[in-house]
Amino acid sequence: MERIHIDWDGRRLRLLDQRALPDRERYVECRNARDAAEAIRQMVVRGAPAIGITAAYGLAMEAMAGGDLDAAAALLRSSRPTAVNLFWAVDRMLAAGRDPERLRREAEAIDAEDLEMCRAIGRAGATLLPDPVTVLTHCNAGGLATAGYGTALGVIRAAVEAGKSVRVLADETRPYLQGARLTAYELMKDGIDVTILPDAAAGHLMARGEVQAIVVGADRIAANGDVANKIGTYTLAVLAEAHAIPFYVAAPTSTIDLGTPAGDEIPIEERPAEEVTTLRGVALAPPGASARNPAFDVTPARLVTAIITECGVLRPPYGPALQSVRPPNALKSLG
Ligand code: MRU
Repeated sequence: MERIHIDWDGRRLRLLDQRALPDRERYVECRNARDAAEAIRQMVVRGAPAIGITAAYGLAMEAMAGGDLDAAAALLRSSRPTAVNLFWAVDRMLAAGRDPERLRREAEAIDAEDLEMCRAIGRAGATLLPDPVTVLTHCNAGGLATAGYGTALGVIRAAVEAGKSVRVLADETRPYLQGARLTAYELMKDGIDVTILPDAAAGHLMARGEVQAIVVGADRIAANGDVANKIGTYTLAVLAEAHAIPFYVAAPTSTIDLGTPAGDEIPIEERPAEEVTTLRGVALAPPGASARNPAFDVTPARLVTAIITECGVLRPPYGPALQSVRPPNALKSLG
């Protein structure tokens, strides 16, 4: 997919408004860290690596405008709690110093490196898929969620580029519908065979032998290999184990959080009940009905067949495997 969702001209940022997809391709402009934080909070931009990149550009713009970088960093950190890439990117930017030009180059490096990492994840992961294959994926871990190319969808793209016959089943991903709205949108743009599935249909198709692999992204991987990802991922992992289907997590090393020992310590975002009880303003439930809306869940490491990173495919036990890979170095920038 041509990159259209993060448009940086060296001074200001335009983000494709993912809330409006697939109906409309409209943009939101960001001129400082406050705008970037608001775009992340409102889910104009979403997906762990993409929000990290947005935060980095937010800090670069703040530095160029002579703003208070510590206040800007605090604001960005408070925008969404679960994806560790956000905190990783903010820390890396602050470690680069205060010089506006240096920070601009650091943000551009974070963006460029993410694209490289996605392509490397794709190459490593494509080798794991049989040919032909039907792959089930959840949420959107695609180009829209990263600098481009995607993590889980990067594996799928690379398998297609390698000549494999790949069919994709995209969970619709209630309640925000990232699968139906975004994964279907970007795979169809690339001419990749995709079929949308109600989330509740996944087990039925697995039981019938219609799924050969599951590939998902991640928002945070704890030091023991527990994985936080979009709500519903844990359910898929349990079903995958029950049906002896490999369950792969594709993520860059910027998603690994060695400071969090296990998944039960990962902060899980609770989003508004209205996302469950309404759909684009239309009521789906009786007025006043209460609803829970946890946006992420934690898949225990024991259910994960492999973690696909830009450094290669990690296998259990994940503790030592995750210790052996390192996130991109804060000082290794392009400039
Ligand atoms: O709430 P979202 O849409 O930001 O959630 C995104 C996910 O859960 C993705 O699977 C994850 O960030 C990986 S993106 C490469």
